[in-house]
Amino acid sequence: MSESKSPIQVCESASIQEGGTAQRFNVLYNGEAVSAFVIRVDDSAQGFLNRCSHIPVEMDWNYGEFLDDSGRVIVCATHGASYDGVTGECLGGPCSGNPLVRLNITEEQGKVLWTPAGEVTVPPEGIED
Ligand code: FES
Repeated sequence: MSESKSPIQVCESASIQEGGTAQRFNVLYNGEAVSAFVIRVDDSAQGFLNRCSHIPVEMDWNYGEFLDDSGRVIVCATHGASYDGVTGECLGGPCSGNPLVRLNITEEQGKVLWTPAGEVTVPPEGIED
């Protein structure tokens, strides 16, 4: 299993706009293929597993659409659990206080970077969705 701790480029910084559509990518979570995404909230890039803490399903309303009209709250399309777009903390609904799994995302020289850590690793076939 490849387990790099080096930062991996997810996308160009310009690809994710404040409160806009996410960039999706693929990771392994405890060895299982799972979707992940980066969004821009409060002028910073944030990343999470695309996996609701209520039931482990993808949360997009449409492909790459996670945020409500405020541009800073992630809302799960299945039953409406809401999460803080910066911290992933459960704000209400069926997440019952359980947060999203947050990824280690940074930005450097116009690139959004993910540094794998813990149970979240790089799939052997790469991260491209
Ligand atoms: S699966 Fe997300 S709120 Fe139920």
